[in-house]
Amino acid sequence: MDGNGRWAKGKGQVRTLGHRAGVEALKRTITAAVDLGVTHMTVFAFSTENWRRPAQEVSDLMGLLRAFIKADLERLRREGVCVRIIGQREGLPPDIVTMVDDARARTKDNSRFFLQVALNYGAQADIVEAAKRLAEEARAGTLDPAAITPDLLESRLSTHDLPPLDLLIRTSGEHRLSNFLLWEAAYAEFVFQDILWPDYGRDALKAALDIFARRSRRYGGLEADHAVQSA
Ligand code: FPP
Repeated sequence: MDGNGRWAKGKGQVRTLGHRAGVEALKRTITAAVDLGVTHMTVFAFSTENWRRPAQEVSDLMGLLRAFIKADLERLRREGVCVRIIGQREGLPPDIVTMVDDARARTKDNSRFFLQVALNYGAQADIVEAAKRLAEEARAGTLDPAAITPDLLESRLSTHDLPPLDLLIRTSGEHRLSNFLLWEAAYAEFVFQDILWPDYGRDALKAALDIFARRSRRYGGLEADHAVQSA
């Protein structure tokens, strides 16, 4: 959800107002995603690196998350949205941990749309945690290191129960992954949009999905017609 700060600056406002507008964009985009047939969406709300921001901005972002859960969770629950958090719990304010656990518990039976909020998330740290779990199992004698495969490591990631990542969208004209879903993006299609997150919504998402629909996905193989010709 990149570009909140620049959006606010462009309007002569403080960064927090950009984040506040970013929450409105998130709500619009969830509604549009459900409407357009998307079933899973993961948004990057706060990275393990975002703690480096000024304390006031960090506190404002946590406040926006609290407000979002208080004001919008019940509506999302009624609309069939399952809300989950990915990322490290350690380091988060304790009341946020309680709130996100409660949000998950209250929406766990929903299956119309799965919203993952990446909070205190870093893909490298997630992979390291998965590796540590496998190492501990090997030390305990319950896992043969020779049996470790990409699928097994993937099963220990915080995204293990999500379908394969199809489309990764980065907003605001940046062309980096910034430690987001590194493992999961192995075969994802990337769409970079020159639009600041607070301006995001149905039109932008539809445009990204249209680009995605025109892509040819080969997963290291050949186009279907080439495969048939060479078979
Ligand atoms: C990136 O823009 C955005 C963030 C680091 C925070 C995103 C968080 C929210 C939209 C609100 C809280 C989340 C929820 C789920 C309610 P930036 O600040 O890096 O913008 P810039 O690149 O223009 O400076």
